[in-house]
Amino acid sequence: MNDQYILAIETSCDETAAAIIRNGTEIVSNIVASQIDSQKRFGGVVPEVASRHHVEQITIVIEEALEKANMQPSDLTAVAVTEGPGLVGALLIGINAAKAFAFAHGLPLIPVHHIAGHIYANALVEPMEFPLLALVVSGGHTELVLMKEHGSFEVIGETRDDAAGEAYDKVARVLNMPYPGGPHIDRLAQEAKEGIDFPRAWLEENSYDFSFSGLKSAVINYKHNMDQRGEEIDPQKVAKGFQDSVVEVLTTKTLRAAREFNVKQVIAAGGVSANKGLRTSLEQVFEKEQIPFIVPPLKLCTDNAAMIGAAASYMYVAGVRGDLAMNGLPGKELKSWI
Ligand code: KG4
Ligand code: ZN
Repeated sequence: MNDQYILAIETSCDETAAAIIRNGTEIVSNIVASQIDSQKRFGGVVPEVASRHHVEQITIVIEEALEKANMQPSDLTAVAVTEGPGLVGALLIGINAAKAFAFAHGLPLIPVHHIAGHIYANALVEPMEFPLLALVVSGGHTELVLMKEHGSFEVIGETRDDAAGEAYDKVARVLNMPYPGGPHIDRLAQEAKEGIDFPRAWLEENSYDFSFSGLKSAVINYKHNMDQRGEEIDPQKVAKGFQDSVVEVLTTKTLRAAREFNVKQVIAAGGVSANKGLRTSLEQVFEKEQIPFIVPPLKLCTDNAAMIGAAASYMYVAGVRGDLAMNGLPGKELKSWI
């Protein structure tokens, strides 16, 4: 059988990325052009700024992915691209580049869901074992996803308000930390000796849903109270208190779901899975529980195209194809492809 090579493109938010993946498991090249320095000035992602950066970078990034892989378009099997969710203007830059490339070189197109991509970053680390439970924690999503086989997704819990990454970024802003705030809070929390006691949102007893807006408000109220009393807050203590609350809720609900659904593997995915506190907590809990736990290396936790290529590889085999009428779907739902 011939090797399968997928060129993948990801432009859903603030990274312009292209990668080439061999047989769904091996990264041949993986290029990410980040806009973080430019978005920092605004304290978050400005959609128009993101789109403009993608336009400037996309051709260069695709060429670099081919060059690093030492490959020609004729060596490729298919072109994959993130169809959604994400910023519509940003998505469209990647989708149009993918369409043009696929049309010019007579290659099939594969439309990929961004979260399926985050989950499949783990397929680049170790083979997936089913049933599998994925904790997806990113800037836009917080979900527990049950997978019974490749391409089958059942969302068993999700956030009712803010995503975990969003809460990190907002709390970081309260502490005057630059965007994106997650890594800064993580570092401060590691340095802290003790944390402020902030609430945990467990919701109803059997619920796998999450809520982070109450915790975010608790941090903001704490800062206001201290300001009114003319007292300085200790950023390390606040960061640790916040992170302990997020990590305890995420870990506890993931463990309960892993037990209930009797899964063979637990994986973490998305930007917040780069968090040291969360990685350590999940590793310890699942080692004790004797359920194999995998989390991608940091570079594959945050947005990248390698993960899109990994998911697309399984979609290609399952016969999923897009066409030139493909559009950016900012609110695309995670649906099974089998
Ligand atoms: O998956 P991602 O790169 O983009 C989305 O699809 O949203 O996730 C970005 C989010 C940001 O909110 C960022 O603050 C958070 O991931 N993040 C972290 C860490 N590294 C990135 N949050 C907590 N701890 C980290 N070390
Ligand atoms: Zn993402």
